[in-house]
Amino acid sequence: MAKDFSELEDSNRSRNPDIHQVSDPSRRRVLAAGAGSALFAQLAGGCVSMPAGSHAAARGRPSFTPIAPGVGDRLVVPEGYVAQVIAPWGEPVGVPGRMPAFRSDASNSADDQAVQMGMHHDGLHFFPMDGRADRGVLAMNHEYTDDGLLHADGMARWSAEKVRKAQAAHGLSVIEVARAADGSWQMVRPSRFARRVTMNTPFAVGGPAAGHPMMRTAADPDGRRVLGTLNNCASGMTPWGTYLSGEENFAGYFDAGRALSEHHRRWGLREKSGYRWAEFDERFDAVKHPNEPNRFGWVVELDPMDPESVPIKRTALGRAAHEGAWVAVTRDRRAVVYSGEDARFEYLYRFVSRDAIREAGAGQTPAQANRDLLDHGTLYVAQFDADGTGRWIPLLHGSGPLTAANGFADQAEVLIKARQASDAVGATRMDRPEWIAIDPVERWVLCTLTNNSARGAPGQPGPDAANPRARNVMGQIIRWREAGDFDGERFEWNHLVLAGDPANERAEARGTIRGDVFACPDGIAFGPMGILWVQTDLSATEMNRGEFARIGNNQMLAFDAQSGRFLRFLTGPVNCEVTGAAFTPDGRTLFVNIQHPGESPGERSDPTNPQRFSGWPDFASHGRPRSATVMIRKRDGGVIGT
Ligand code: FEO
Ligand code: CA
Ligand code: CA
Ligand code: CA
Repeated sequence: MAKDFSELEDSNRSRNPDIHQVSDPSRRRVLAAGAGSALFAQLAGGCVSMPAGSHAAARGRPSFTPIAPGVGDRLVVPEGYVAQVIAPWGEPVGVPGRMPAFRSDASNSADDQAVQMGMHHDGLHFFPMDGRADRGVLAMNHEYTDDGLLHADGMARWSAEKVRKAQAAHGLSVIEVARAADGSWQMVRPSRFARRVTMNTPFAVGGPAAGHPMMRTAADPDGRRVLGTLNNCASGMTPWGTYLSGEENFAGYFDAGRALSEHHRRWGLREKSGYRWAEFDERFDAVKHPNEPNRFGWVVELDPMDPESVPIKRTALGRAAHEGAWVAVTRDRRAVVYSGEDARFEYLYRFVSRDAIREAGAGQTPAQANRDLLDHGTLYVAQFDADGTGRWIPLLHGSGPLTAANGFADQAEVLIKARQASDAVGATRMDRPEWIAIDPVERWVLCTLTNNSARGAPGQPGPDAANPRARNVMGQIIRWREAGDFDGERFEWNHLVLAGDPANERAEARGTIRGDVFACPDGIAFGPMGILWVQTDLSATEMNRGEFARIGNNQMLAFDAQSGRFLRFLTGPVNCEVTGAAFTPDGRTLFVNIQHPGESPGERSDPTNPQRFSGWPDFASHGRPRSATVMIRKRDGGVIGT
């Protein structure tokens, strides 16, 4: 069953007006210790002393032959490229001694699912092993479940076992992958790194909200140990080699009853949840356990190279329907974490750490050396002004309206109620902020605003400078550049592009795209040579409407900064979302996630229904469509995109 998040994305009734870095040379060193794209680090490290905007020539240009808009139930990449499915839903991740085979009739148990790839893959990152480009660990998110596909008989005879299986299909996967001599990639199984983090994995709570009364429950009277993570959407990677994951639309998992508290209402909780977990797992009954929802909506941090490590909820970064979290580094090596919440009329945040990133001591990994770095710092929310400038407003208890008299007893309450705090300080209400990318060449910070069809609707905020279209079905990419370093208070901003076909007859759906057209940007990331990549998430319910006719299936495009044109690189199978973008350090392998192929409202996700949309990637006669990680490389072994 496809979940309807439209209500969740619209819980801001406030009346606010609508109106890095990566260029730290130390990053190269940290990355060499195991965290990311060496090409990217070299490029970034090489431009640390150059004034912003003066060296666009340092950026590579995409040079593949763009492909046509996607149609049908297949994945397409440009001529000269190959794509290979390596890790679909249900594959055993490779936990030693526990590798139950996937059954295409979905008859695997909840215990099986707890050691198999989760459902609906989303953000992912490649962590090279010893700096290698041919072997490493992939960490990824599993955003949500389609219970019509997850269980052999769908949602019929709903049971405790089905709830347990759904919970086990959520969370994160860590898998080891390796490249063979012929260029193909496989999961390494068994692997000592193989791990699933599910709704029942213990998390520590870090930062100011740890132990706060609003975080305490009957099962956890100390408010410092939470079971599980959910609705993990996009991800980021820290310079110290850990994985950050955003807990996005957590509100949709709780039954909050008829008499919603003002707090629950503001966070989009509803009387009943479409997931139906509360029927068999009482902690999702927010009437009985009103603080349980406060324990979700955080950025979580995981050390993927240490299978024994306890993942941590980082409360200093604020509570939100976090899409993900992306790290820049100031010149004095403090970590700056950008994060938006993918919800209509919600906000964009920035966290600046108090301390500098620490070097690893003897016998210590960079992850261990920086275990508490994200627990201390200042959270800000963005205000975009009509004159093309903006500012970061600090969310500090005691400053401005953030006082006990206004319902914020202390800093922890400001963080737990970050939405209410942002309402109070008059931050800008955005069109669903999704991924963020930090330009290694020009220091812009880019954010996809995927769409907001409610903008300008009766009783809703109208367009503003940053979110300029009413009934915004297409989305836009906004970017800002801070005065001085990444911790500056003021910034300049503009739009990289308004998505949508420039030839569209409807003004509000008409875009400014040059080159290949797209709608609803979601994933955004810089790859090898500083090339920008964009991925799309046009919902299945809207895909067939007229204004999207020329756009086709969801896709991935490269942006040629020199010509200002978008080039279509990949199109996914029918009704999938294209998400997750991770490059190996040599830039020659790209990992992408194909999420929810064939997603459809209601009954067509039933695999026995002949009208279901997708059989990708197995196309087995009684099989089900499966979200999957796909590896992409050039036949000649060259750098992706060039
Ligand atoms: Fe889960 Fe915001 O896409
Ligand atoms: Ca997303
Ligand atoms: Ca989606
Ligand atoms: Ca999305």
